[in-house]
Amino acid sequence: MPDVEKKESKEADKKDFHVSVPMETPGFFLRGSAHLDWGMKNRLSRIFNPKDGRTVMLAFDHGYIMGPTSGLERMDLAIPPLIPHVDCLMCTRGAIRSCIAPDTNKPLVLRCSTGATVLKELSNEVIGVTIEDAIRLNASAVTAQAYVGGPFEKESLANIGYLVNEGCKYGIATLGVTAVGREMVRDSRYLGLACRVVAELGVHFVKTYYCEPGFDDVVAGCPVPVVIAGGKKLPELDALNMAYKAISQGAAGVDMGRNIFNADDPVAMAQAVRAIVHDNEKPQKAFDLYNSLKGKRAKSGK
Ligand code: R5P
Repeated sequence: MPDVEKKESKEADKKDFHVSVPMETPGFFLRGSAHLDWGMKNRLSRIFNPKDGRTVMLAFDHGYIMGPTSGLERMDLAIPPLIPHVDCLMCTRGAIRSCIAPDTNKPLVLRCSTGATVLKELSNEVIGVTIEDAIRLNASAVTAQAYVGGPFEKESLANIGYLVNEGCKYGIATLGVTAVGREMVRDSRYLGLACRVVAELGVHFVKTYYCEPGFDDVVAGCPVPVVIAGGKKLPELDALNMAYKAISQGAAGVDMGRNIFNADDPVAMAQAVRAIVHDNEKPQKAFDLYNSLKGKRAKSGK
Protein backbone atom coordinates (compact mmCIF):
# COMPACT_ATOMS: atom_id res chain seq x y z
CA MET A 1 0.00 0.00 0.00
CA PRO A 2 -0.47 2.20 -1.77
CA ASP A 3 -0.33 0.62 -5.22
CA VAL A 4 0.65 3.84 -6.92
CA GLU A 5 3.70 4.05 -4.73
CA LYS A 6 4.55 0.38 -5.27
CA LYS A 7 4.61 1.04 -8.99
CA GLU A 8 6.88 3.99 -8.35
CA SER A 9 8.96 2.28 -5.68
CA LYS A 10 12.25 3.33 -7.23
CA GLU A 11 11.07 6.92 -7.23
CA ALA A 12 9.70 6.56 -3.70
CA ASP A 13 13.07 5.33 -2.44
CA LYS A 14 14.56 8.60 -3.60
CA LYS A 15 12.38 10.69 -1.26
CA ASP A 16 14.32 13.08 0.91
CA PHE A 17 12.48 14.60 3.86
CA HIS A 18 15.48 16.63 5.06
CA VAL A 19 14.77 15.45 8.59
CA SER A 20 17.77 17.29 10.00
CA VAL A 21 16.38 20.64 8.82
CA PRO A 22 13.63 21.79 11.20
CA MET A 23 10.64 23.50 9.62
CA GLU A 24 10.71 27.22 10.34
CA THR A 25 7.84 28.56 12.44
CA PRO A 26 7.98 32.31 11.83
CA GLY A 27 5.91 34.40 14.23
CA PHE A 28 4.19 31.52 16.00
CA PHE A 29 5.55 28.52 17.87
CA LEU A 30 3.66 25.76 16.02
CA ARG A 31 4.71 24.47 12.64
CA GLY A 32 2.45 25.41 9.77
CA SER A 33 0.33 27.70 11.94
CA ALA A 34 1.92 31.12 11.39
CA HIS A 35 -0.78 32.39 9.08
CA LEU A 36 -3.82 31.38 11.10
CA ASP A 37 -6.18 33.83 12.73
CA TRP A 38 -5.75 35.05 16.32
CA GLY A 39 -8.59 32.95 17.73
CA MET A 40 -7.32 29.76 16.13
CA LYS A 41 -3.79 30.44 17.41
CA ASN A 42 -5.14 31.15 20.87
CA ARG A 43 -7.02 27.84 20.93
CA LEU A 44 -3.96 25.96 19.67
CA SER A 45 -1.92 27.64 22.43
CA ARG A 46 -4.28 26.09 24.97
CA ILE A 47 -3.74 22.61 23.51
CA PHE A 48 0.03 22.92 22.96
CA ASN A 49 2.19 24.53 25.63
CA PRO A 50 3.79 27.61 24.00
CA LYS A 51 6.95 27.05 26.10
CA ASP A 52 7.91 23.82 24.33
CA GLY A 53 5.28 23.39 21.62
CA ARG A 54 4.19 20.05 23.08
CA THR A 55 1.09 18.50 24.58
CA VAL A 56 -0.08 15.56 26.65
CA MET A 57 -3.62 14.89 25.47
CA LEU A 58 -5.76 12.36 27.31
CA ALA A 59 -7.86 10.34 24.84
CA PHE A 60 -10.99 8.78 26.31
CA ASP A 61 -13.29 8.79 23.30
CA HIS A 62 -13.10 5.00 22.87
CA GLY A 63 -16.66 4.39 24.06
CA TYR A 64 -18.15 5.95 20.93
CA ILE A 65 -17.15 2.85 18.98
CA MET A 66 -16.34 0.31 21.73
CA GLY A 67 -18.87 0.92 24.49
CA PRO A 68 -17.61 0.57 28.08
CA THR A 69 -14.11 -0.59 27.23
CA SER A 70 -11.72 -1.74 29.99
CA GLY A 71 -10.46 1.16 32.06
CA LEU A 72 -13.36 3.39 31.00
CA GLU A 73 -16.25 1.44 32.52
CA ARG A 74 -16.80 4.45 34.82
CA MET A 75 -15.50 7.62 33.19
CA ASP A 76 -16.71 9.65 36.18
CA LEU A 77 -14.25 7.72 38.38
CA ALA A 78 -11.39 7.09 35.93
CA ILE A 79 -10.90 10.50 34.31
CA PRO A 80 -11.10 13.28 36.98
CA PRO A 81 -7.94 12.16 38.88
CA LEU A 82 -5.97 12.28 35.61
CA ILE A 83 -7.02 15.77 34.58
CA PRO A 84 -4.45 17.73 36.65
CA HIS A 85 -1.62 15.82 34.95
CA VAL A 86 -2.58 16.28 31.29
CA ASP A 87 -2.81 19.32 29.02
CA CYS A 88 -5.93 18.55 27.08
CA LEU A 89 -9.00 16.28 27.03
CA MET A 90 -10.08 14.43 23.90
CA CYS A 91 -13.54 12.89 24.13
CA THR A 92 -17.15 12.87 22.97
CA ARG A 93 -19.78 15.43 23.92
CA GLY A 94 -21.63 12.70 25.84
CA ALA A 95 -18.58 12.01 28.00
CA ILE A 96 -17.72 15.63 28.71
CA ARG A 97 -21.27 16.66 29.62
CA SER A 98 -22.02 13.65 31.81
CA CYS A 99 -18.72 12.97 33.56
CA ILE A 100 -16.46 16.03 33.57
CA ALA A 101 -17.04 19.06 35.79
CA PRO A 102 -17.46 22.27 33.76
CA ASP A 103 -14.99 24.13 35.96
CA THR A 104 -12.23 22.00 34.42
CA ASN A 105 -9.69 24.42 33.04
CA LYS A 106 -8.34 22.14 30.31
CA PRO A 107 -9.00 22.56 26.59
CA LEU A 108 -11.33 20.13 24.85
CA VAL A 109 -10.73 18.35 21.55
CA LEU A 110 -14.19 17.14 20.64
CA ARG A 111 -14.80 13.85 18.83
CA CYS A 112 -17.44 14.71 16.20
CA SER A 113 -17.66 11.58 14.05
CA THR A 114 -20.26 8.88 14.49
CA GLY A 115 -22.07 6.14 12.61
CA ALA A 116 -19.85 3.12 13.18
CA THR A 117 -19.06 0.74 16.02
CA VAL A 118 -16.74 -2.21 16.47
CA LEU A 119 -19.69 -4.40 15.48
CA LYS A 120 -19.64 -3.12 11.90
CA GLU A 121 -17.43 -1.31 9.40
CA LEU A 122 -15.48 1.33 11.35
CA SER A 123 -14.74 3.58 8.40
CA ASN A 124 -18.43 4.19 7.67
CA GLU A 125 -18.74 7.44 9.60
CA VAL A 126 -20.53 10.77 9.30
CA ILE A 127 -20.24 13.96 11.34
CA GLY A 128 -22.79 13.86 14.15
CA VAL A 129 -21.99 17.05 16.06
CA THR A 130 -22.79 20.57 14.86
CA ILE A 131 -20.24 23.33 15.11
CA GLU A 132 -22.76 25.21 17.26
CA ASP A 133 -22.65 22.42 19.83
CA ALA A 134 -18.85 22.41 19.70
CA ILE A 135 -18.95 26.15 20.43
CA ARG A 136 -21.44 25.59 23.27
CA LEU A 137 -18.96 23.14 24.78
CA ASN A 138 -16.14 25.66 24.35
CA ALA A 139 -14.18 23.14 22.26
CA SER A 140 -10.69 24.23 21.25
CA ALA A 141 -10.66 21.71 18.41
CA VAL A 142 -12.95 19.25 16.66
CA THR A 143 -11.89 15.89 15.31
CA ALA A 144 -12.78 12.93 13.10
CA GLN A 145 -10.90 9.98 11.67
CA ALA A 146 -9.57 9.61 8.15
CA TYR A 147 -9.58 6.05 6.84
CA VAL A 148 -7.09 6.50 4.03
CA GLY A 149 -7.32 3.45 1.79
CA GLY A 150 -10.29 2.08 3.76
CA PRO A 151 -13.71 1.08 2.40
CA PHE A 152 -15.21 4.50 3.18
CA GLU A 153 -12.11 6.57 2.45
CA LYS A 154 -14.00 9.23 0.49
CA GLU A 155 -16.65 9.72 3.16
CA SER A 156 -14.10 9.90 5.97
CA LEU A 157 -12.04 12.49 4.08
CA ALA A 158 -15.20 14.47 3.37
CA ASN A 159 -15.89 14.44 7.14
CA ILE A 160 -12.48 15.99 7.74
CA GLY A 161 -13.06 18.63 5.06
CA TYR A 162 -16.45 19.45 6.59
CA LEU A 163 -14.96 19.95 10.06
CA VAL A 164 -12.20 22.17 8.68
CA ASN A 165 -14.79 24.28 6.82
CA GLU A 166 -17.07 24.64 9.83
CA GLY A 167 -14.29 25.10 12.39
CA CYS A 168 -12.53 27.76 10.32
CA LYS A 169 -15.67 29.91 10.39
CA TYR A 170 -15.25 30.27 14.16
CA GLY A 171 -11.52 29.83 14.73
CA ILE A 172 -11.88 26.28 16.03
CA ALA A 173 -8.99 23.98 15.07
CA THR A 174 -9.40 20.53 13.53
CA LEU A 175 -7.44 17.46 14.56
CA GLY A 176 -7.16 14.84 11.81
CA VAL A 177 -6.87 11.31 13.17
CA THR A 178 -5.34 8.76 10.83
CA ALA A 179 -7.15 5.51 11.56
CA VAL A 180 -5.54 2.35 10.27
CA GLY A 181 -7.96 -0.19 8.82
CA ARG A 182 -7.41 -3.92 9.36
CA GLU A 183 -5.95 -4.34 5.89
CA MET A 184 -3.38 -1.53 6.23
CA VAL A 185 0.21 -1.76 7.41
CA ARG A 186 1.33 0.77 10.00
CA ASP A 187 4.57 1.64 8.25
CA SER A 188 6.08 5.02 7.49
CA ARG A 189 4.99 4.94 3.87
CA TYR A 190 1.32 4.45 4.74
CA LEU A 191 1.27 6.71 7.81
CA GLY A 192 3.26 9.37 5.96
CA LEU A 193 0.72 9.32 3.16
CA ALA A 194 -2.26 9.47 5.53
CA CYS A 195 -0.78 12.31 7.63
CA ARG A 196 0.08 14.34 4.58
CA VAL A 197 -3.37 13.82 3.05
CA VAL A 198 -5.21 15.12 6.13
CA ALA A 199 -2.76 18.02 6.52
CA GLU A 200 -3.40 19.05 2.94
CA LEU A 201 -7.14 18.89 3.61
CA GLY A 202 -6.49 21.67 6.10
CA VAL A 203 -6.36 20.09 9.56
CA HIS A 204 -4.34 22.05 12.11
CA PHE A 205 -2.73 19.04 13.76
CA VAL A 206 -2.59 15.32 13.12
CA LYS A 207 -2.79 12.26 15.30
CA THR A 208 -1.16 9.10 14.02
CA TYR A 209 0.69 6.03 15.23
CA TYR A 210 4.38 5.71 15.98
CA CYS A 211 6.19 3.46 13.54
CA GLU A 212 9.74 2.38 12.97
CA PRO A 213 11.73 2.86 10.97
CA GLY A 214 10.86 6.18 9.40
CA PHE A 215 8.69 8.00 11.94
CA ASP A 216 10.91 11.06 11.50
CA ASP A 217 10.03 11.00 7.77
CA VAL A 218 6.32 10.90 8.65
CA VAL A 219 6.72 13.99 10.85
CA ALA A 220 8.95 15.86 8.41
CA GLY A 221 6.53 15.27 5.54
CA CYS A 222 3.58 16.63 7.53
CA PRO A 223 3.52 20.44 7.61
CA VAL A 224 1.50 20.68 10.86
CA PRO A 225 2.19 19.25 14.35
CA VAL A 226 1.93 15.47 14.77
CA VAL A 227 0.93 13.75 18.01
CA ILE A 228 0.90 9.99 18.54
CA ALA A 229 -1.87 7.73 19.76
CA GLY A 230 -0.80 5.19 22.32
CA GLY A 231 -2.52 2.21 20.71
CA LYS A 232 -3.04 -1.09 22.52
CA LYS A 233 -1.91 -1.37 26.13
CA LEU A 234 1.82 -2.06 26.45
CA PRO A 235 3.94 -2.68 29.53
CA GLU A 236 4.50 0.76 31.08
CA LEU A 237 8.22 0.97 30.23
CA ASP A 238 7.49 0.07 26.59
CA ALA A 239 4.83 2.77 26.34
CA LEU A 240 7.25 5.33 27.79
CA ASN A 241 9.92 4.18 25.34
CA MET A 242 7.53 4.66 22.45
CA ALA A 243 6.59 8.16 23.62
CA TYR A 244 10.27 9.04 24.01
CA LYS A 245 11.18 7.82 20.53
CA ALA A 246 8.25 9.69 18.98
CA ILE A 247 9.20 12.96 20.73
CA SER A 248 12.86 12.51 19.79
CA GLN A 249 11.82 12.15 16.17
CA GLY A 250 9.74 15.30 16.11
CA ALA A 251 6.31 14.46 17.52
CA ALA A 252 4.68 17.40 19.30
CA GLY A 253 3.23 15.17 21.98
CA VAL A 254 0.88 12.29 22.63
CA ASP A 255 -2.86 11.76 22.54
CA MET A 256 -2.81 8.69 24.74
CA GLY A 257 -5.64 6.63 26.12
CA ARG A 258 -5.28 2.95 27.01
CA ASN A 259 -1.61 3.18 27.97
CA ILE A 260 -2.61 5.74 30.61
CA PHE A 261 -6.03 4.72 31.89
CA ASN A 262 -5.23 0.99 31.76
CA ALA A 263 -1.84 1.36 33.46
CA ASP A 264 -1.41 -0.29 36.84
CA ASP A 265 -1.46 3.22 38.29
CA PRO A 266 -3.02 5.61 35.76
CA VAL A 267 -2.25 8.78 37.74
CA ALA A 268 1.43 7.85 38.04
CA MET A 269 1.53 6.92 34.35
CA ALA A 270 0.08 10.28 33.29
CA GLN A 271 2.87 11.98 35.25
CA ALA A 272 5.55 9.73 33.76
CA VAL A 273 4.33 10.43 30.22
CA ARG A 274 4.32 14.12 31.06
CA ALA A 275 7.96 13.87 32.19
CA ILE A 276 8.90 12.46 28.77
CA VAL A 277 6.91 15.01 26.78
CA HIS A 278 7.64 18.19 28.71
CA ASP A 279 10.83 17.49 30.66
CA ASN A 280 12.69 15.48 28.00
CA GLU A 281 13.11 12.73 30.57
CA LYS A 282 14.67 9.46 29.39
CA PRO A 283 12.33 6.42 29.43
CA GLN A 284 14.07 4.61 32.31
CA LYS A 285 14.03 7.78 34.46
CA ALA A 286 10.33 8.29 33.66
CA PHE A 287 9.69 4.65 34.56
CA ASP A 288 11.53 5.14 37.89
CA LEU A 289 9.31 8.15 38.50
CA TYR A 290 6.26 6.01 37.68
CA ASN A 291 7.30 3.33 40.16
CA SER A 292 8.12 5.81 42.88
CA LEU A 293 4.78 7.67 42.48
CA LYS A 294 2.96 4.34 42.35
CA GLY A 295 4.69 3.19 45.56
CA LYS A 296 3.87 6.45 47.38
CA ARG A 297 0.26 6.35 46.24
CA ALA A 298 -0.09 2.72 47.33
CA LYS A 299 1.30 3.62 50.76
CA SER A 300 -1.00 6.61 51.21
CA GLY A 301 -3.98 4.65 49.87
CA LYS A 302 -4.84 7.50 47.42
C1 R5P B 1 -9.30 6.14 18.26
O1 R5P B 1 -10.21 5.99 17.53
C2 R5P B 1 -9.46 7.09 19.29
O2 R5P B 1 -9.38 8.36 18.73
C3 R5P B 1 -8.51 7.01 20.46
O3 R5P B 1 -8.66 8.20 21.12
C4 R5P B 1 -7.08 6.83 20.08
O4 R5P B 1 -6.90 5.59 19.50
C5 R5P B 1 -6.10 7.08 21.22
O5 R5P B 1 -6.25 6.20 22.20
P1 R5P B 1 -5.20 5.04 22.48
O6 R5P B 1 -3.98 5.72 23.03
O7 R5P B 1 -5.88 4.18 23.46
O8 R5P B 1 -4.91 4.37 21.17
